[in-house]
Amino acid sequence: MPVITSIEDLRILAKKRVPRMFYDYVDVGSWTESTYRANSDDFQPIKLRQRVAINMENRSTASTMLGQRVAMPVAIAPTGLTGMVSADGEIKAANAAKKFGIPFTLSTMSICSIEDVAQGTGGHPFWFQLYVMKDRDYIERLIDRAKAANCSALMLTLDLQIIGQRHKDLKNGLSVPPRLTTLNLMNMMTKVRWGLGMLGTRRHNFGNIVGHVKGVDSLTTLSEWTAKQFDPALNWGDVEWIKKRWGGKLILKGIQDVEDARLAVASGADALIVSNHGGRQLDGAPSSISATPAIVNAVGSQIEVHMDGGIRSGQDVLKARALGARGTYIGRAFLYGLGALGEAGVSKALEIIHKELDLTMAFCGRTHIERVDHGILLPGTYPT
Ligand SMILES: Cc1cc2nc3c(=O)[nH]c(=O)nc-3n(C[C@H](O)[C@H](O)[C@H](O)COP(=O)(O)O)c2cc1C
Repeated sequence: MPVITSIEDLRILAKKRVPRMFYDYVDVGSWTESTYRANSDDFQPIKLRQRVAINMENRSTASTMLGQRVAMPVAIAPTGLTGMVSADGEIKAANAAKKFGIPFTLSTMSICSIEDVAQGTGGHPFWFQLYVMKDRDYIERLIDRAKAANCSALMLTLDLQIIGQRHKDLKNGLSVPPRLTTLNLMNMMTKVRWGLGMLGTRRHNFGNIVGHVKGVDSLTTLSEWTAKQFDPALNWGDVEWIKKRWGGKLILKGIQDVEDARLAVASGADALIVSNHGGRQLDGAPSSISATPAIVNAVGSQIEVHMDGGIRSGQDVLKARALGARGTYIGRAFLYGLGALGEAGVSKALEIIHKELDLTMAFCGRTHIERVDHGILLPGTYPT
């Protein structure tokens, strides 16, 4: 077993252990992947100011997101098919987040259902991410299920009503459950831990959908239903009724433009996430970190601004916070941990990011994350 010291180590191990079609589903962006790459690359030119001879005792990375106390300003991003990266993956990741003291967000397109995760975490509150489908009765029931499961925030994703093309997914014939072509079968047979895990769970399908939609009871009906359900007509009027139906804290995900950020404020949402869906949708969109400062400047005093995209280290979290993001989310960083080592791998990813965040903050002369601002960055090296 290699010594794991970075998120990159977890990625390499996950690549060995997860069947190719599911590893590729994680590690892919749309079309040329330029936005996917830029999300991580654009953190690099941002330089930190090294400060010395400042008392570095008694440090804290604790903060709040949406008024909720968090051990560090990082939450688990919603990701579809997580239970295909590792058996019962959503429950494993939710438990790792619970132990660490950060929020976990469950995707609509998860394998474990809302009820599975609520039960698997002993009723610990989590956040639920909603995709809007044409079947509005289903959406209403889904919102009610999230309420019944004690979810403490609803995250409405606005940037995936039409779906960007990811070449690898098409070439691999990605499907849930996996399509058993000879090539896929041969590849899966080499992933023994993954296979044993999958044999030990009954959760191999979209848990929030199967059994909850009239007429969807077989694989064929499920894929027909999902293919035509994402509603391209979604608009700000829908945000209003969803907010009303939900009645609790609302986060809008997928904001990249200042004009949309202003509309998000007008909608009465509690937070917005500067996000381009991890480079999986509009290829050619700016990286999230470069889009963040303009949105913080425009609306940061009126709404909590969060960001995601490209975070692979605690240094990245620190830079995002310095540029005004109150909270951040990790997608691939936790999925690599999950694919590599299951729940222990997600915990490892969180520990790695936390340690990097804590030490880097200290090198910059700050002891509390709450006091980190753009003063820790070298002028001229960061987007404004
Ligand atoms: C494999 C995968 C599946 C995803 N599925 C969803 C999803 O179901 N709902 C959603 O709102 N975002 C989804 N996203 C986007 C993430 O929530 C998040 O915006 C993105 O992963 C952040 O970028 P990062 O992976 O570089 O951290 C997904 C991302 C990945 C990598």
